[in-house]
Amino acid sequence: MRCLPSAWYRELDTRGGEHYLILLNAEDEVAAVCDANWDARVPERVHQSFTAVAAPWRVQGLAKAAKAAMLLLVRARRPEVTTFTTYNAQSNGPMLSTNHRLGFCLHREECTYQLGRDALGAFLRRAAV
Ligand SMILES: CC(C)(COP(=O)(O)OP(=O)(O)OC[C@H]1O[C@@H](n2cnc3c(N)ncnc32)[C@H](O)[C@@H]1OP(=O)(O)O)[C@@H](O)C(=O)NCCC(=O)NCCS
Repeated sequence: MRCLPSAWYRELDTRGGEHYLILLNAEDEVAAVCDANWDARVPERVHQSFTAVAAPWRVQGLAKAAKAAMLLLVRARRPEVTTFTTYNAQSNGPMLSTNHRLGFCLHREECTYQLGRDALGAFLRRAAV
């Protein structure tokens, strides 16, 4: 089977970039995954996006293993990288623990606010009078 490159991979080829993927397999199943990407326009930085462990394999250290393997891969392949960024929801205890154990520290905090349709409707009705 031939796979066509996605628009993102075409963009990486055009501007210069790489996508890194660590997969831990258990026979024919994926047990854990960790991905990261490098942009040639910001060569000193790698952004790590997604880490996940399949439910039966959790709390056995696989997230730490997959993310540590990614750090080693980036170190070997891109020695110019000095900053490795990742995001972590404050509600995600296992990922906070994983990142803390690997040595990540807080750089910046972002907040997401939610507004329900009913509350918005009530506000707009009040604003209209
Ligand atoms: C987050 C996730 C990747 C962790 O995978 P894991 O293989 O279970 O992680 P590890 O076993 O390497 O480490 C988990 C750590 O969290 C701790 N932990 C587990 N549940 C916890 C909780 N509810 N609160 C705090 N810590 C918790 C474990 O004790 C362990 O601690 P340790 O580092 O002191 O040993 C996994 O839960 C997952 O795939 N979640 C869904 C996807 C996701 O949220 N990904 C992150 C955003 S990209």
